[in-house]
Amino acid sequence: MHTSSHADLASMLNVLRDPAGIPAPPAIFQWLMVLTWAMHILFVNLVLGGATLAIASFYRRADPLWGRLSRAMTQVTKIALSLAIVLGVAPLLFTQVIYDPMWYASNVLSAAWVMGFIYALGLGYTCWFIFSFRNKEGASSGELVWAVAAVLLFALNGFVMHVLSVQSILPAKWLEWYAPQGVPDMSGLKVHAFSFPRFAFFFAAAVAGTGIFLLAYADYFRTRNDFPPSYRELCRRIGWQWARWGFLGQAVFALVWFAGIEKAGAHPFLWVVVITLLGSLAFLWRRSAPAAAGKGYLFQGLFVVYTLIVGIAREEIRLGALLPLGYDPMTYKVNLDLASTLLFFTTFLGVGGLALGFLLAMLWQAGRVEGSYVAGKTVARLSNAALAIVLIWISIFFAVGISVWIRNFR
Ligand code: HEM
Repeated sequence: MHTSSHADLASMLNVLRDPAGIPAPPAIFQWLMVLTWAMHILFVNLVLGGATLAIASFYRRADPLWGRLSRAMTQVTKIALSLAIVLGVAPLLFTQVIYDPMWYASNVLSAAWVMGFIYALGLGYTCWFIFSFRNKEGASSGELVWAVAAVLLFALNGFVMHVLSVQSILPAKWLEWYAPQGVPDMSGLKVHAFSFPRFAFFFAAAVAGTGIFLLAYADYFRTRNDFPPSYRELCRRIGWQWARWGFLGQAVFALVWFAGIEKAGAHPFLWVVVITLLGSLAFLWRRSAPAAAGKGYLFQGLFVVYTLIVGIAREEIRLGALLPLGYDPMTYKVNLDLASTLLFFTTFLGVGGLALGFLLAMLWQAGRVEGSYVAGKTVARLSNAALAIVLIWISIFFAVGISVWIRNFR
């Protein structure tokens, strides 16, 4: 690229930043983004993979075990989608804090798709709800229409997210996209960038992630008589199969994706992703499904760590594209606001930690009991603590707001 236009691009990217700066060091936002994105994609995996498995096993529902698996995965998908959406908001906010020039430019360039994203999501979720109400014993094949429509809409959502991500790291092309041959295109209707291996990588991740989830699922319900070994063995077998093929797909797509990235060899986490995938494949192909019995939680935990590594690799790719253009998130102007940073972390850990801790502990225990569940002492204490901290939080929220408001009138 011509040197002067390179300098222009660098100054444009930096000028587009928020002149007010950010309230804490950029590294904090970067880490929070990677962490919350990993949580987002873990549930996205269960949406795309869970829905596909619900459909695939629906075809075999004449066999009661498969019918049961289809119904279970229908519910898993329903819950996972709500978590994927909630957990998508966090990285969205963090990305907008340190990569605002990229994220907004990318969104404006394909604005119609961004707005359509919301409707596609709502429509997809509605279709899945209809399927979930109707996927009962003896359901007719016609119900599949809802499920297939929903999966296609979810995939469309993934496509939009992917396009936005890829467009955001190609600033050198924005001007040409915005005004091809000098004529501005204000429609926002165009999709300008798409990377097949990167996109496909996430679908393979969905297959692998759902497989690993099934291995943990098969272990979790071992204490319940209404989850007979035949059903849990089916889950373990399918889980192993999906993990195998999912990781194989991920390995192939990762290699093609990374091969197309400049100086990919210089990014340590890209190596870690590839090595982890090859190691997992060697393990999965040497052993068979019964080897997973009792190790489901271990595998699930390792998969979470691996997903975090993918998040870091994704961030390396972004930095590898932006640093040479003169955009370094670490140089973002910091306007330190300790009070808001402290409030954020105490809310996150205190309110989030306790309220979520209570819900998770209760659900974890309740799910393992057949019939009605009575909370033990610890869970009962957690519930009181969760309620107390939410009330305290609400009073602090209003006290701070009202005092700031009143002080403005003095
Ligand atoms: C069915 C719904 C969804 C699917 C299938 C989906 C899928 C994906 C995928 C595959 C990626 C990675 C793209 C890439 O790196 O190429 C991604 C990234 C992301 N998603 Fe989602 N997503 C969904 C919903 C949401 C929602 C509702 C939000 C926010 C409210 C969200 C926020 C994000 C963010 C912020 C990123 C990272 C963007 C970046 O910094 O590059 N997603 N999503």
